[in-house]
Amino acid sequence: MIAAALLVPVLPATAAHAAVVRHEAEAATISNGTVASNHTGFSGSGFVDYTNATGSSVEWTVTAAAAGPVGLTIRYANGTTTNRPMDIAVNGTRISAAHSFPVTANWDTWSDATVTANLNAGSNTVLFTSTTAGGGPNLDYVDVNLVATGATKYEAENGVCQGTIDSNHLNFSGTGFCNTDNATGATMTWTVPSASSCA
Ligand code: GCU
Repeated sequence: MIAAALLVPVLPATAAHAAVVRHEAEAATISNGTVASNHTGFSGSGFVDYTNATGSSVEWTVTAAAAGPVGLTIRYANGTTTNRPMDIAVNGTRISAAHSFPVTANWDTWSDATVTANLNAGSNTVLFTSTTAGGGPNLDYVDVNLVATGATKYEAENGVCQGTIDSNHLNFSGTGFCNTDNATGATMTWTVPSASSCA
């Protein structure tokens, strides 16, 4: 047998959880702010207009199927001429202090800020609290982006190899590689979860 697995194209590992779940600000728990719709370009039925004060906050409850890192994409507008920083906390732990929400062209122009957060399996809180007297920017939504967790690696030695799992060459990942049989149609099969099995 030759190490055919090194010669044939192997499908790239794909993210097991490719879901993006949108959490609208108007459905969050708001402390010192109101739901407004007096500007354009927002998603859903409105956005949160923070009270112009330090300590105004918006909190979402976010459910994750598994523990691990996710990307949080925060849609915001800041029609002033100064930054509107906010602390970002996940499950009560601050993950970013005075995170910058810089000016956008006007209140109708929305921009994205992104951070990475570690979530627990199950229910999590994600809290955005203004840290200056101006309050927070207008907040439209947070997208929880499970793609940002990166690709999941499926080792050949854990799949079904039509051939043998060998280790007689260098630089393989894991404990070996699939040396497929010297035959047309020799296969290597991995079983991966579908996106629909992800929360
Ligand atoms: C303006 C604007 C609001 C914004 C507010 C602010 O009033 O219309 O949408 O929230 O400024 O300074 O935060």
